[in-house]
Amino acid sequence: MGRLDGKTALVTGASRGIGRAIAIELAREGAKVAINYQSSDAKAQEVADEIKRLGSSCILAKADLSNPQEARAMVQRVADEFTHLDILVNNAGITRDAMLRKLTDEAWVEVIQTNLNACFFCTSAAIPVMTAQSYGRIINISSMNGQVGAIGQANYSASKGGIIAFTRTCAVELAKSGITVNTVSPGYTETDMFARVPNDIQTQIKAKIPLGRFAQPEEIAKAVIFLAADGDYITGQQINVNGGAYM
Ligand SMILES: NC(=O)c1ccc[n+]([C@@H]2O[C@H](COP(=O)([O-])OP(=O)(O)OC[C@H]3O[C@@H](n4cnc5c(N)ncnc54)[C@H](OP(=O)(O)O)[C@@H]3O)[C@@H](O)[C@H]2O)c1
Repeated sequence: MGRLDGKTALVTGASRGIGRAIAIELAREGAKVAINYQSSDAKAQEVADEIKRLGSSCILAKADLSNPQEARAMVQRVADEFTHLDILVNNAGITRDAMLRKLTDEAWVEVIQTNLNACFFCTSAAIPVMTAQSYGRIINISSMNGQVGAIGQANYSASKGGIIAFTRTCAVELAKSGITVNTVSPGYTETDMFARVPNDIQTQIKAKIPLGRFAQPEEIAKAVIFLAADGDYITGQQINVNGGAYM
């Protein structure tokens, strides 16, 4: 008997990394899971196969979330197929790092569109569904670097700081509809995204983490599961999962 038996969930960016771990943990707790991704068909299918092995069912929900029509249609399709949508995890994200003097308009817009605006597109599409059922759990994945200055990440930091602010307003507006909205903010986590950071910089970063190591995606997923399964009286909050790197 899982803590999320009977619940349905949509995880954006679930083909790899943190989103993959969240999707699998949700399924382990009994939820039916929709896996959104942009282009990694084979990897998304692997996640779907793993979820089926766990005895749960899932939907592949390919969509480019930077496109508002595609994002909203994807959320609606998932809600229609599941007949309800209980949990939305806005996890999809990208980096296009550059120092400010070299940061292009394109890299700025792409990151804000994918990380922050897509969070709005998916949330706004889920609100009518969740309001009608008087129940919803929305969990937005921000970042430690939405709270601290991060060299070369002006676009990324702005998008992640925006998610934290967006979450609080969603929480106050949606509480009366039985919808909670919270943020999980990972520190450095071993995924494809973090693998792009040069080795010497990774070593410098690790030296500053009190727990002395990077996070595993499953450790971020645990905080999401806690909010989804046990967070009934938690809204507008942020859980930092960063090994103590920012307190
Ligand atoms: N890793 C870290 O150290 C770290 C730290 C703090 C916060 N975070 C945040 O955690 C989240 C997950 O990061 P990660 O490290 O797991 O990233 P990742 O391994 O690079 O995976 C990114 C995921 O997002 C999907 N995605 C990207 N652009 C998309 C789009 N336009 N439409 C739909 N899906 C899209 C990708 O789909 P495809 O596979 O199809 O490309 C993939 O599933 C992100 O929001 C990231 O900012 C990560």
